[in-house]
Amino acid sequence: MIYQSMPKVEIHHHIEGAAPPKFIASLAREKNIDISKIFDADGNYAYAGFAEFLSTYEAACEPLTGPQEFYRLTKAILEEAAEHGVVYLETFISPDFCGGGDVSAWRDYVAAIEQAATEAERDAGITLRGIVTAVRHFGPDNAKASARCAAETKGDFITGFGMGGAETHLRPRDFAYAYDMAREAGLQLTCHAGEWGGSEMVAETIHDLGVNRIGHGIHVMQDPKLVAEAVEKGVVFEVCPGSNVSLGAVTGWEAHPIVAMRDAGLKVTVSTDDPPFFHTTMTNEFTMLNKTFGWDKADFDSLNQTALEAAYCDDETRAKIAKKLGKVT
Ligand code: ADE
Ligand code: ZN
Repeated sequence: MIYQSMPKVEIHHHIEGAAPPKFIASLAREKNIDISKIFDADGNYAYAGFAEFLSTYEAACEPLTGPQEFYRLTKAILEEAAEHGVVYLETFISPDFCGGGDVSAWRDYVAAIEQAATEAERDAGITLRGIVTAVRHFGPDNAKASARCAAETKGDFITGFGMGGAETHLRPRDFAYAYDMAREAGLQLTCHAGEWGGSEMVAETIHDLGVNRIGHGIHVMQDPKLVAEAVEKGVVFEVCPGSNVSLGAVTGWEAHPIVAMRDAGLKVTVSTDDPPFFHTTMTNEFTMLNKTFGWDKADFDSLNQTALEAAYCDDETRAKIAKKLGKVT
């Protein structure tokens, strides 16, 4: 089966990480910024391992110098995602890369991204929501500034708060203040954990930050008691198998724990994370799940349903997307 046209709900995706390398290279040329070292001979992003991935990622953000660049980026990303059947997308947006944590600059970036989203919804039928995201290795003070930005722009478009970056930097509780600010502002909460860290990192993230979703979370499987707790609490796992394979968090598709996670009763969803970095798309994720584990339409319907139930959007939007998936809530 060709999965490209099947409607899809994607809830773990980084706006900068989705920037096509050609888009970034051409923007860099326009601005006379030399970031040629981040591309390989074929023009793809070049990195080996997670630490280099993070530095390549940060260098790729350099030409994204203002709201207009994010407007163009958002348009390009949404057109591409819609071509892969994505009808609802949540993307992580970092104030660190959008005005450096300054609230008034951040407002301009959000306005530009939201404008592009409104146009893409009209033209390509894809709905976007933004999750404001702290970068863990930039530290707790930057995370607080990001949470402040999130709180100031919370609304129909900015609906959540999260954190990515180097998972082994500090502990979740070091970011509790930022998460408390976001929670008090009424934002929904997620955090990357258990991608590089072990099950104890997933446990601390659930207990100390009060999230209802975990980014990746694959190492939850190291601790059966924690699995039972996550099942009981209904924690949703934003699983990104292609990302895990590409970055080496697992040794290959066959070794990915997504089947074990689902069989254990965990709520699993599937996303691309940073599609061009990992040479993936939502079509590719579904195709590889089919080839590796035999998953098919019923499995993908269930992934979509779980993602939609966990989506950080209002019920009117949820009902609209449910119709696109062929279901009425
Ligand atoms: N930022 C972008 N992609 C990420 C990933 N896979 N893990 C942590 N932080 C990220
Ligand atoms: Zn991620």
